[in-house]
Amino acid sequence: MLRAAMTPGTALQHGLAAAAAQRRTFAIISHPDAGKTTLTEKLLLYSGLIRTAGMVRGRKGGKTAASDWMGMEQERGISITASAMQFPYKDAVINLLDTPGHQDFSEDTYRTLTAADSAIMVIDAAKGVEAQTRKLFAVCRMRRIPVLTLMNKMDLPGRPPLDLMTEVEEALNIHAAAVNWPIGSGSDFAGIVDRADDRVQLFSRTAHGGATKVDVARMFLRDLEGSGRVTPEVIAAVRHDLELLEVAGNPFSRDRFLEGDVTPVFFASALTNFGIESFLDAFVSLAPAPGARPADADNGEEVSIDPVETPFSAYVFKLQANMNPKHRDSTAFLRVCSGRFERDMVVRHHRLGKEVRLSRPHSLVAQERSTVEEAFPGDIIGIINPGLFAIGDTISVTGGFNYKPLPQFQPEIFARIRPTDVGKRKAFDRGMEQMAQEGTVQIMRSLNDLESLVAAVGRLQFDVLQYRLRHEYRVETILDSLGFTCSAWLEGDPATFKAPSNSMLVKDQRGRVVVLFGDQLMKTIARDRNPAHVLLDMG
Ligand code: G4P
Repeated sequence: MLRAAMTPGTALQHGLAAAAAQRRTFAIISHPDAGKTTLTEKLLLYSGLIRTAGMVRGRKGGKTAASDWMGMEQERGISITASAMQFPYKDAVINLLDTPGHQDFSEDTYRTLTAADSAIMVIDAAKGVEAQTRKLFAVCRMRRIPVLTLMNKMDLPGRPPLDLMTEVEEALNIHAAAVNWPIGSGSDFAGIVDRADDRVQLFSRTAHGGATKVDVARMFLRDLEGSGRVTPEVIAAVRHDLELLEVAGNPFSRDRFLEGDVTPVFFASALTNFGIESFLDAFVSLAPAPGARPADADNGEEVSIDPVETPFSAYVFKLQANMNPKHRDSTAFLRVCSGRFERDMVVRHHRLGKEVRLSRPHSLVAQERSTVEEAFPGDIIGIINPGLFAIGDTISVTGGFNYKPLPQFQPEIFARIRPTDVGKRKAFDRGMEQMAQEGTVQIMRSLNDLESLVAAVGRLQFDVLQYRLRHEYRVETILDSLGFTCSAWLEGDPATFKAPSNSMLVKDQRGRVVVLFGDQLMKTIARDRNPAHVLLDMG
């Protein structure tokens, strides 16, 4: 009956709702070496896209770059942009956002997280919660992005699982709820038990290491003893931990997970595939599909943009310049938030107040741009950007609202920068303005306007800045690192501000006064000494 009554419009809506419900757009957050690349590869293995793992991992020390996936992409039809990878996993469509870690750490990494609907936090079970994980987790918390936790490398000697649970809770200030529990650890790691129903999975190492799917024997915990595969001591330890968790652990609730209040915890070994498939299945069923996003309507009211009810809308979360060195173009990466995107669509560009045609949407296929014909909420598209787009721009069919501005992140490194050749000042200023607009670095000036300073969250951003000034603007620069590690906006008269030692007053791009400090302690001292001023943390 319902079907017969459907108009073509509602049928389309139906297809859109189904496509949106299938999407899982997420990022992996982890400290370098915790196993992000290995887990990504196992996603491809268990999705059936590759039959053997190990082919895309770089050699020791060489991390997998987007280009390493590309040969495989051509063969298997995985779509990769420099920013996201899309592929089917069982009934879901996965959009895995690329959040480079380590040397590549930058504001881009943070901003990319804003495009995720959920995150997988991979923790090395021997190391626990590490520095980069903390930083990335803080962004998830700020954006209310639900986080699943994978305790990885259980096949190596690691910390006791109960300790790891406590560490997650204390270091990240979130409730941790174990969904499964490891049976043995290190070379004794034999399987996992599902806490909801006491079902056990025992794994056997394959001859190919983790290159192929692992064999699983299934049974109930009560039958484990009779199986002869696990020692009575290991079983007793598991029972002991489970009883403790029953009394002292956190119950898991999907609602609380979606609110960012609880992280479900899973134990596994990505290298050997132990526990990986059940983790991935749990991820697909627990992680949210794209939901409504808050925005500011033109009349100043806060509105919620529904992914299905609202026609196409998206925002720019990343700009990448010069993917093609012959052109000055950059690529704007957009996260589709609502509606169906079709190639050649004409949309409103809210900041510029004009209409633009999205005629060259693409994903990258083996260095060549392949055109995207359609996309759905949660998907990432790249648009060639002839200077039209800035980070945070909203585009839509209807107009009338803007997605919330992307947060500015507290820079941790600072430097003075100047052109080696004073005659190149104009080109230098032009280049700096462009880099600031793209969000490559934050730019500051001394209060007397004579000096330019740059601020960033990662060293790589400075390298990119100098490289691009050299190659795109033909300006060689000298960069002097400054020994500041944190900053705050100053409210109140700068002339009466009593600055502590090793601090400096500068202006940000919007002309607000910022104080740079040698360390957090100096910031605290400055607050104490200047009760009439306010020092606001950035963020
Ligand atoms: P990352 O992307 O988070 O930086 O980590 P990646 O997956 O590259 O893993 C870092 C190292 O840890 C790799 O070893 C990888 O094989 C290993 N590893 C990942 N998951 C597991 C696991 O579950 N168990 C064990 N034992 N090792 C794991 P590598 O020696 O640096 O590289 P390779 O020589 O193995 O390629």
